[in-house]
Amino acid sequence: MKVHQADIVISAVSKAQYPPTAIPEIALAGRSNVGKSSFINTLIDRKSLARTSSKPGKTQTLNFYLIEGKFHFVDVPGYGYAKVSKTERNKWGKIFETYLTERPQLQAVVSLMDMRHEPSKEDIQMYNFLKYYNKSVILVATKADKIPRGKWNKHESMIKKSIGFDEEDDFIMFSSVTKQGKEAAWQAIEKYL
Ligand code: GTP
Ligand code: MG
Repeated sequence: MKVHQADIVISAVSKAQYPPTAIPEIALAGRSNVGKSSFINTLIDRKSLARTSSKPGKTQTLNFYLIEGKFHFVDVPGYGYAKVSKTERNKWGKIFETYLTERPQLQAVVSLMDMRHEPSKEDIQMYNFLKYYNKSVILVATKADKIPRGKWNKHESMIKKSIGFDEEDDFIMFSSVTKQGKEAAWQAIEKYL
């Protein structure tokens, strides 16, 4: 999809703040700093519509972006940032769980994992959680530019094995630096629109 129009609609916390629209939604989930905001910006050819930072834990709300008047990307706060208090973490969990389980507009979740590392305990929990609720997942392995191409297969197998990957889901090697995987990501997303 070539995107000409992309605007932030609302930064929501509670259900009452979700946009009152019926258009499809695609949410992004992943630990802090994995590259969720960068993924959105890469797909829509913007430098900084979705906030990116080198400071983890920056996105604290559900940020709804309207794309081409057609669907919402929903950027979700990152999980697993050690310096966030337990109270904050529980609050985050609740916000996300409510959105995930009570929003019929949600069509698929882009689950992002840093392909350089073994999935964390939280990555595995997140994937299981999504599968438990029968969500369609687009697994995006980020920061592919940091790994030589010859090793991609090995990292893909490692991630799939570690999370118990469902082969019905999509798996995409991605880099917001080289734009690797951008077309594949759009193809996967457009199946749900
Ligand atoms: P939170 O909002 O804090 O949860 O983080 P996020 O998941 O939105 O991550 P963000 O997109 O802000 O990126 C975090 C850092 O990783 C930034 O410094 C990005 O420039 C960098 N980054 C993101 N994607 C890539 C990538 O594909 N390759 C490389 N080399 N760096 C990336
Ligand atoms: Mg972010």
